Amino acid sequence: MKICIYPGSFDPITYGHIDIIERASKIADKLIVAVLNNFDKSSLFTVEERLEMIRESIKKYDNIEVESFEGLLVDYAKSKGARIIIRGLRAVTDFEYELQMAQTNRELYSDIDTMFLLTNLKYSYLSSSVVKQVASYEGDISKFVTPYVAEKLKGKFNRYNV
Ligand code: PNS
Repeated sequence: MKICIYPGSFDPITYGHIDIIERASKIADKLIVAVLNNFDKSSLFTVEERLEMIRESIKKYDNIEVESFEGLLVDYAKSKGARIIIRGLRAVTDFEYELQMAQTNRELYSDIDTMFLLTNLKYSYLSSSVVKQVASYEGDISKFVTPYVAEKLKGKFNRYNV
């Protein structure tokens, strides 16, 4: 069985992520969307909130699992029997960071490969950071995230009055 892992921060999940997840789920027998639990206080959403938003976004797919992980991605991949990491590439500016990560992961675990999927052009400008910024100024984020995630973002910025 071809098990692939799509790791990330997903703070929060955007339509760009969903597009990659949908396409990766057609390549993998089983796709694991893995949220890094780095106890990073700068994340807007808790890991549980991020997992819930992802699960809500992909519930129609039956070969996708959503989990969190801690520590090294390659150790998590090994524990899951996965040998393919999926990452999205939006633009050439992503490449250097992605190359560094992919090469490091292969040095750490020679059986792992990283497969890059080109982000759909219509989402090539999109990032979770940009979405959070627009949401914080009460801008229209309906083209960036699902209505469910948009509500969660509104709740965050209302509650903390950012
Ligand atoms: O969505 P992001 O923030 O670009 O995802 C980055 C992520 C989670 C894939 C990356 O930070 C990661 O794999 N972290 C786990 C620690 C690790 O394995 N580091 C070694 C590879 S550089």
